[in-house]
Amino acid sequence: MTNVLKDDKMKTVIFPGGEQVPALGQGTWRMGDDPGRRSEEIRALRTGIDLGMNVIDTAEMYGDGRSERLVGEAIAGIRDRVFLISKVLPSHADRKGTKRACEGSLRRLGVEALDLYLLHWMGRYPLSETVEAMLELQAEGKIRQWGVSNLDVLDMAGLFALPGGNTCAADEVLYNLTRRGPEYDLIPWCGERELPLIAYSPVEQGRLLNRPVLKEVARRHDATPAQVALAWVLRLPGVIAIPKAATAEHVRENAGSLDIRLTPDDLHELDRAFPAPARKVPLEVI
Ligand SMILES: NC(=O)c1ccc[n+]([C@@H]2O[C@H](COP(=O)([O-])OP(=O)(O)OC[C@H]3O[C@@H](n4cnc5c(N)ncnc54)[C@H](OP(=O)(O)O)[C@@H]3O)[C@@H](O)[C@H]2O)c1
Repeated sequence: MTNVLKDDKMKTVIFPGGEQVPALGQGTWRMGDDPGRRSEEIRALRTGIDLGMNVIDTAEMYGDGRSERLVGEAIAGIRDRVFLISKVLPSHADRKGTKRACEGSLRRLGVEALDLYLLHWMGRYPLSETVEAMLELQAEGKIRQWGVSNLDVLDMAGLFALPGGNTCAADEVLYNLTRRGPEYDLIPWCGERELPLIAYSPVEQGRLLNRPVLKEVARRHDATPAQVALAWVLRLPGVIAIPKAATAEHVRENAGSLDIRLTPDDLHELDRAFPAPARKVPLEVI
């Protein structure tokens, strides 16, 4: 990946292999579903890449491959500027199926390798089979790193106990102001192992944006609720946020979250409205 850290205000996260990536990326769920929005969605993704939001998250599941095809079109010619993530469905995640699924993703994306390949969530196949396939894909040069999604602490501990399991490079989970459960145990667990956490649905799919407290904090920073919600997720080291925005205008607005430094008063006010977990909360999923 080249030329992604041109703007030094961009917070970065370091992967276990030493690679440094921008902490604000882009999600793509539900992109590519509506042909009438396709060119705007591609423009949005490219705008984000130009702004340094180079981590792009997709999955074979999204629109049954439509999101991957759209991402492939958006990154054509600029592949080396992007940190590309895709995911295998649990129903494909045995040894052979994982490899086949990865090849399908590479084809739809039009790339030779993924930067990070995730198990989308845990299904019926033993994790050991998925790990084996991930390691083989890595050895074949089809993926540079592998990781998981929607795994809570106990499952992460089980994964790390498997042969090769501790080479997992990330966990992608639901984390935003209204979903603070991971702060209790998963985020510290990842932090101790310097394992990046990728926060999905960081603006709670838009549902957060009308909350009065966010509007109030945003007003003080001459910002927007989306920018405050993202700045809040990005306040933690080792955390990447991947908001999905289908218009260039939303993408530019989201990039503006990097200019916001939340004050202790802001954080206190947000804590009052969205309390931190006082006990274990099972990992939520969307
Ligand atoms: N691993 C997993 O299991 C999993 C699960 C869910 C999501 N994800 C990943 O995480 C990504 C993000 O999560 P998400 O798509 O569920 O939710 P999200 O990013 O929290 O929210 C997306 C919604 O917020 C709107 N939005 C974004 N920026 C905005 C802004 N500045 N102002 C107003 N509205 C704004 C978008 O509208 P527009 O589209 O109109 O811009 C869209 O409706 C997904 O796209 C996907 O890549 C992963």
